[in-house]
Amino acid sequence: MRLVVEQNQALSREPRTILVTGGAGFIGSNFVHYWCQQYPGDRIVVLDALTYAGNRNNLAGLEGWANLRFVQGDICDRPLIDALLQEEGIDILAHFAAESHVDRSILGPDAFVRTNVIGTFTLLEAFRQYWLTNGQPTHFRFHHVSTDEVYGSLNPNDPGFSETTPYAPNSPYSASKAGSDHLVRAYYHTYGLPTLMTNCSNNYGPYHFPEKLIPLMCINILMGKGLPVYGDGQNIRDWLYVEDHCSAIDAVLHRGKPGETYNIGGNNEVKNIDLVHKLCELMDELATDLPVRPAHKLITFVKDRPGHDRRYAIDATKLRTEIGWTPAETVESGLRKTVQWYLTHRNWWQPLLSPEYQAYYKQVYTSV
Ligand code: NAD
Ligand code: TYD
Repeated sequence: MRLVVEQNQALSREPRTILVTGGAGFIGSNFVHYWCQQYPGDRIVVLDALTYAGNRNNLAGLEGWANLRFVQGDICDRPLIDALLQEEGIDILAHFAAESHVDRSILGPDAFVRTNVIGTFTLLEAFRQYWLTNGQPTHFRFHHVSTDEVYGSLNPNDPGFSETTPYAPNSPYSASKAGSDHLVRAYYHTYGLPTLMTNCSNNYGPYHFPEKLIPLMCINILMGKGLPVYGDGQNIRDWLYVEDHCSAIDAVLHRGKPGETYNIGGNNEVKNIDLVHKLCELMDELATDLPVRPAHKLITFVKDRPGHDRRYAIDATKLRTEIGWTPAETVESGLRKTVQWYLTHRNWWQPLLSPEYQAYYKQVYTSV
């Protein structure tokens, strides 16, 4: 057994048991892979409803892992959450489960309010009850994974979002995440529940569902399909390699102060159109069998997303100075790894281009 952190309110000694909600999704599954490698003695219980975004194949390679349990279920199911917390003796609840795609939130916001607000509330209430029943252990943690989109949109010369930037969500997705963030904050202030919160920028990397910008562009290039850039392509996002996100959560879990929020960024602000060009260049270089070459000939400007936020950027000073974390990847190194991954994992993404996916695609890209 080794001591994980020396602090007044220390995280527990290993081995620990962690409940990972949304652990079959993009970031959650990367987190499970990361954690199994870093802390092989810990037990991980994945709870995931397996919506369109959840995929058991994201956890492939870990099936034989004795310390991993997968449970298909809904974070709104209170009796299930109560039972899991109790029977597994959970120390840390790492909450990734969410409806996460802005475009889907515009088409149908209901599921976003249900999962992101009611689901987070259900987890908080269950965890509070469990924490109280166990005598309020100081090493318990409820880690809420959130987004920079709760802060709204920046102008070109504005400083990046800090932890004190007022909330100004603009989409049903970001509004529902903001609602869940406020509940987490309230549970610390009102009940003293040992919460942690991280708000991060756009992630990219392995196991990213095909409808998000980077995987969509990679896959369309490989299939010789149009590359739909919304509006004028000048919108800016900060890009965070998903493994960096996982290591940042690890650092916050071990060194973060309960009740605090930490913003996580990649120091990689890029205009959408420049990002798409970078992906095209990487594919031209790395792929041998492109149907259309050079790939940038596929770029098509399409109708803009309603209420499209212009710019996101993160001021990660607090994470750097208080926790000692900085990202390992640049956008160049991270994109190269990502393109390589999509090139060598056709068996992962091809089955995801299902009739449901095609129907969604048609609905969003009618003008492509
Ligand atoms: P994702 O959509 O890829 O995965 C979400 C997972 O949650 C899926 O496996 C899905 O099956 C599961 N899920 C959905 N509803 C559920 C429910 N009711 N009960 C149980 N499981 C349910 O999302 P992601 O990109 O991995 O995002 C994970 C978290 O990180 C989310 O909270 C998201 O808001 C946040 N985040 C994501 C990004 C990003 O760039 N992807 C950036 C910042 C923050
Ligand atoms: P996305 O991956 O949906 O993340 P978010 O909207 O949460 O930032 O999109 C990233 C950026 O790329 C965003 O500005 C919208 C834009 N975009 C396109 O231009 N075309 C597309 O087909 C998609 C999916 C996104």
